[in-house]
Amino acid sequence: MSGQNVNTPPSLYPVPEAFAAQAYIGSRQAYDQLCAEAQKDHESYWARLAREFLSWKQPFTKVLDSSNAPFYKWFDDGLINASYNCLDRNVEAGLGDKVAIIFEADDGKVTRYTYKELLEKVSRLANALKAQGVKKGDRVVLYLPMSVEGVVAMQACARIGATHSVVFGGFSAQSLRDRIEDAGAVLVITADEQLRGGKALPLKAIVDEALAMGGCESIRQVIVFQRTGGNIQMQAGRDVWLHDVLAQQSAECPPEFVSAEHPLFLLYTSGSTGKPKGVQHSTGGYLLHAALTTKWTFDLKPDDVFWCTADIGWVTGHTYVAYGPLALGGTQIVFEGVPTYPDASRFWRMIESHQVTIFYTAPTAIRALIKAAETNEAVHPRKFNLTSLRLLGTVGEPINPAAWEWYHREIGGGRCPIVDTFWQTETGGHMITPLPGAHALKPGSCTLPFPGIDAAVVDEAGKEVPWGQGGVLVVRKPWPSMIRTIWGDPERFKKSYYPADFGGQYYLAGDGAIRDAETGYFTITGRIDDVLNVSGHRMGTMEIESALVSHPLVAEAAVVGRPDDLTGEAICAFVVLKRPRPTGDEAKQLANELRNHVAQEIGPIAKPKDIRFGDNLPKTRSGKIMRRLLRVIAKGEDVTQDTSTLENPAILDQLAQSN
Ligand code: WT7
Repeated sequence: MSGQNVNTPPSLYPVPEAFAAQAYIGSRQAYDQLCAEAQKDHESYWARLAREFLSWKQPFTKVLDSSNAPFYKWFDDGLINASYNCLDRNVEAGLGDKVAIIFEADDGKVTRYTYKELLEKVSRLANALKAQGVKKGDRVVLYLPMSVEGVVAMQACARIGATHSVVFGGFSAQSLRDRIEDAGAVLVITADEQLRGGKALPLKAIVDEALAMGGCESIRQVIVFQRTGGNIQMQAGRDVWLHDVLAQQSAECPPEFVSAEHPLFLLYTSGSTGKPKGVQHSTGGYLLHAALTTKWTFDLKPDDVFWCTADIGWVTGHTYVAYGPLALGGTQIVFEGVPTYPDASRFWRMIESHQVTIFYTAPTAIRALIKAAETNEAVHPRKFNLTSLRLLGTVGEPINPAAWEWYHREIGGGRCPIVDTFWQTETGGHMITPLPGAHALKPGSCTLPFPGIDAAVVDEAGKEVPWGQGGVLVVRKPWPSMIRTIWGDPERFKKSYYPADFGGQYYLAGDGAIRDAETGYFTITGRIDDVLNVSGHRMGTMEIESALVSHPLVAEAAVVGRPDDLTGEAICAFVVLKRPRPTGDEAKQLANELRNHVAQEIGPIAKPKDIRFGDNLPKTRSGKIMRRLLRVIAKGEDVTQDTSTLENPAILDQLAQSN
């Protein structure tokens, strides 16, 4: 399949011919053909793939049900089980002894799990959940380290039709409590502690604290995975050890086949207003896109060693750790630790030792490792043999071209394509991404929509803008893995994603985008709402503001993002206290106290980098905080805009000098 590079503009990185020759989607024509198939008949296209990629207990007869739009249903009358698709069918196909997961612990210890072993573990835990009275549709909260047990717990829920809700192990007791209460969960699976970078961090103690706060009366039991053997309290009648319950259970558990629309999981994420929302995903449509994108975007082959570094606490760890690679019978790495322990060569060392072929990580990690390599030759990737790699990927935030070039050159040896995958918790899987055998690459661009995803850049009226002109990113047609609703709040779902001002027709991603004038390639220009992206972690400014004002000394707070070389965006908070504005050491000390308070309320990832104290905040005469101006001050730039509508223009100088 040569010839696909003929029309590649010189500024682009052409598809390496050797890659294209072996790729599932090996040319631009092959990509165009798939897009044309979807364009011609959207439903038949997705139906064909749903039949090819998934095993159904009972085939679906309906494809898309739009009768209650935007609450779309896909493959609704089909019966399916996600765990069957990820485990049993691989064992039945003769892959029982194939390694499914290579687990590397924080301390470097490696353990391998075959598909047969994984199926047994999942079945035992599924039986244990059933024995505890967990039923189809019940919600189970997982508060676990990055571990095989985490993947097993997700699969075990899926096996019995329970809906999992994973809460990232970095979230605070308060955040955990809120999520347990909102989901009305019946059971929590946690660990005694988690190990990260040589340090043991509490998990069970935080669960205890969350449950003691009240509002979690729906919880009947806590299952505890013994990871470190650290000292914890077990509450009689409520808490049980994972190893004890597993030992009592049979290693066989027939999967519960559910409707394709049955909620596989909830995953809480931040919006621009109010508390985090429980994004609800389906079983059939979600799993289809997980499997399909793993195959086409990552070109996953049977003998690949795939490594997605995301934690199962985020959607990337759901789709590209817990489901996608398993649905295809792949072999993958699950890594407990952090990229900088014991030193900043950990990723490169692991790629070499496990002969990783496909590597998928976040731009923030790449930027941090570039910095480390520049100052310490010993951790430079050139010290390692990375020739096993054939494909690289990034996710979660824009990648700056300089970091892209470094990744391409130093990690990929100039030979590996990079898939810059744009998607969201709500989309379930990749939306705009290169297919590595089909698309010439442009650093910083996620290139073109995945076949069947009808992405467009539109103006406020919902009209497509010409290439070269910025606008708002929408998806015009529903797709199988899309968010189904916000748990318990269908109105908020409609308002957030199908707002009336865009005609109520299109899915509103919440990002701005622009298409390259020449190639039509998409570049994401950032969120258009009050959502921040710090190191690829998504946070609402309102959530952080609420956390700040819950401190007894804080009268008012406004949070904005500012660009940061390492973390993409940094959190900058402007705070008015109930006492005179602090300066000097007092300001430093109070800023630290507030940072710790935010960590307590939400989690360490939400700690503001900058905290500036003022006598007041810049407000319009009607009392609205002018965040636009705060963003300028946060960047350290001079305010040049017209400030005549401000009630108190003098406050700008004070805030600008308060750093
Ligand atoms: C937001 C979604 C994608 C799963 C992990 C994050 C930003 C994501 C990219 C990318 C530029 C990106 C967007 C999006 N984003 N991927 N490749 N290029 N921006 O999921 O926490 O739901 O965040 O992350 O702003 O809306 P999430």
